[in-house]
Amino acid sequence: MEYVIITHNLTKFYGNLIAVNSVNLSVRKGSLFGLLGPNGSGKTTIIKMLTGQILPSSGKGDVLGIDVVSDPIKVRTLVGIIPEQETPPSFLTVMEYLDFVAEIRKIPEIEKKAAWWFNYLDFEDKKHVLCKDLSRGTRQKLMLTQAFIHEPELALIDEPLINFDPIMQAKVKEFFVSYVQKNNTLFLSTHLLETAEEICSDIAILHKGDLLYSGSMSKILEENRHLSEFFLSLVRR
Ligand SMILES: Nc1ncnc2c1ncn2[C@@H]1O[C@H](COP(=O)(O)OP(=O)(O)O)[C@@H](O)[C@H]1O
Ligand SMILES: [Mg+2]
Repeated sequence: MEYVIITHNLTKFYGNLIAVNSVNLSVRKGSLFGLLGPNGSGKTTIIKMLTGQILPSSGKGDVLGIDVVSDPIKVRTLVGIIPEQETPPSFLTVMEYLDFVAEIRKIPEIEKKAAWWFNYLDFEDKKHVLCKDLSRGTRQKLMLTQAFIHEPELALIDEPLINFDPIMQAKVKEFFVSYVQKNNTLFLSTHLLETAEEICSDIAILHKGDLLYSGSMSKILEENRHLSEFFLSLVRR
C-alpha cells in the first residue's frame, strides 16, 4: 500500500490547550479522505501542520515523502491547498490572481487552463472583476481553481463546500470523485457528515484533539445505517 500522508504522534499545543493530541494517520494514495470532527476538534490545525503553515509542537508529518517540519516550502509547492476561510487577494482581478498563481507555480498555458475552470464552475463573467467584489461563492470557486489548476497529485482542503449552493456542491463533489479516480488523493476536512458519507472512501474522526477512529467508509456502513450514527456513538462516549 502506498501512503501520501503519514503522521506520527503529531501534536499541537496552543499555550496550555492541546489542539491535536499525538495523532497517527495514514492516507492511502488514491483515497478521498475525510477528516471529520465537531467544531474545535483540531481539523484545521492538522491541515495547517500538514501544509507547513504552522509547526507541530512535537511528532512528525510526512507528505508525499517530505518532512513537513524540515521542508514546509517543498510541501507547499507540490500539493494543492485551500486554507480555511481563505480568500484571494482583494486588489487583483480573478484573472490577475490566476496569472500570479501560474507565475509562482510555473504553470504553462494558464489562459487555456483557466478557461476550463471558468466554464466548469460557471464564472467566466467574473474574469475581470476585482476579488474584493466577488460573492463568497465565487471566491470559493476561485480558491478551488487555484488549488487544482496545477493538477497536484494531492490536495488538502479545509471545509470545501461551505460557501456553495446545493447545485455547485453537487458539481464540486462530482469533481472530487473524478479527481481521485485518476489516482490522485484528496484530504478534506469537513463537519458535514452527509457529504463525507456520500463521497469519502476513508475517514478519520477527531474529538477534542484525539483521533477516535480511522478507517474505511465501507466498513462503517456495513455495521451502521449512516455515518452519523457511528460518529455520534463515538463522540458521545
Ligand atoms: N491560533 C490559535 N490560538 C489558540 N487556540 C487556537 C488557535 N487556533 C485554534 N485554536 C484552538 O484549537 C482547537 C482546535 O481548533 P481547530 O483546529 O480550528 O478546530 P476545527 O478546525 O476542528 O474546528 C480549538 O479549541 C481552537 O479554539
Ligand atoms: Mg476548522
